[in-house]
Amino acid sequence: MIRGDERARADDEGAPRRPRVLVVEDDESVRRAIVRLLSEEYDVASESSGLDAFEHLDAAVRAGGAEPDVVLTDVMLPGRDGFAILERVKGDPRLRGVPVLMLTARASLDDLVDGLGRGADDYIGKPFNGAELRARVAAAYRARTLQRELAQRTLALEAALAELAEAQQRATERAKLAAIGTMVAGLAHELNNPLGIVLAQADRALRTELPPRARDALASILRQAGRCVSLTRSLLSLSRDEGSAMAPASVQVAVECVVEAARPQAEEGRVEIVVRAADDLPRVLACEGDLETAIGNLLRNAVQASPTGAQVQLSAQRSPARGAGVGAGTAGVEIVVRDRGPGIPAALRERLFEPFFTTKEPGKGTGLGLSLARCAVERCGGSLALEPADDGLLARMWLPAAEAS
Ligand SMILES: Nc1ncnc2c1ncn2[C@@H]1O[C@H](COP(=O)(O)OP(=O)(O)OP(=O)(O)O)[C@@H](O)[C@H]1O
Ligand SMILES: [Mg+2]
Repeated sequence: MIRGDERARADDEGAPRRPRVLVVEDDESVRRAIVRLLSEEYDVASESSGLDAFEHLDAAVRAGGAEPDVVLTDVMLPGRDGFAILERVKGDPRLRGVPVLMLTARASLDDLVDGLGRGADDYIGKPFNGAELRARVAAAYRARTLQRELAQRTLALEAALAELAEAQQRATERAKLAAIGTMVAGLAHELNNPLGIVLAQADRALRTELPPRARDALASILRQAGRCVSLTRSLLSLSRDEGSAMAPASVQVAVECVVEAARPQAEEGRVEIVVRAADDLPRVLACEGDLETAIGNLLRNAVQASPTGAQVQLSAQRSPARGAGVGAGTAGVEIVVRDRGPGIPAALRERLFEPFFTTKEPGKGTGLGLSLARCAVERCGGSLALEPADDGLLARMWLPAAEAS
């Protein structure tokens, strides 16, 4: 028999509904008797021929979500028989899970084996006992319910597995970053002192009277030593302690700062940076320099990827509470950097966040920009994703607000 919780099962729209049974029987008195027996617990639809049953099933599939939960069909029917109905149900991916119970006066062993062999879920011999028929329909419906639950759980399990795989990938990336960080932090730290001296000495020498070639050479030393300093800084920030002090920080200020820093390169490539930042942005909790690192790297990448004369758009706006995933239920700030460059080939998408992965010429990129950006965003409790666009790339960053708005 149907249990109360099963009877109250919700349909796809969430409204409770009674289970549906389709009865196909050409003998009117038998059909009526079955409908009477089942009506108390089910929404029973009945048809008197195979053709009508086909039309009923076609219409239910077309309507979507109106399919019966159980089909109870006579074997001997005018036109198309019970086996044809069985094949119709089991051959259609949208109906395949619906249990089919075969009903026949010819309850011979051959019929039974034939029906079950073709995929029938149960067999009831005529004349039937009312209590037995109800019990078998209830059992079939229970099996159907369990099968649906199993399918839902399988889906949930698959989603959880995908999430786990993603988390594992991130954990591997983080572990790689941590290992690299530890390894190079010492080296970077030690390099900082001699580099500082190289910079200071080159700068001092440049202030003296020098032939032009020597000046050029010193200027080049200054530029390259400067690059080394910024590289050591990046490497040091990869290994930064997770427990670094966090404080409320202004996104507007960070945006202004990184736009100013990116301007010279943008002007050189005749790329226009268009900024749209809302006035009412909440502050976000971040370690010092994290916002500039995150937004700055995305902006630099966008400028570098842009063709001459193109626009890079940087927008920052208040973002409503998130429904799911990272930062669920928290309000925050969404920062989007949009460029009109070549975008990213699908084959490379997985690798971009790997430290030291770059497609730029030697000396043009370290391949640390995106891994540093993601590191910084995740320290703030946010998320960062690159989304391909028709013409270019869209980098979307979300950061949780420091205080409830
Ligand atoms: N906006 C973009 N458009 C197209 N490709 C991009 C974009 N941003 C990043 N990439 C690709 O991702 C790679 C990795 O970027 P990432 O910022 O980590 O390193 P990089 O830019 O190569 O070097 P660095 O940032 O250290 O100067 C780039 O080499 C480039 O191939
Ligand atoms: Mg970069």
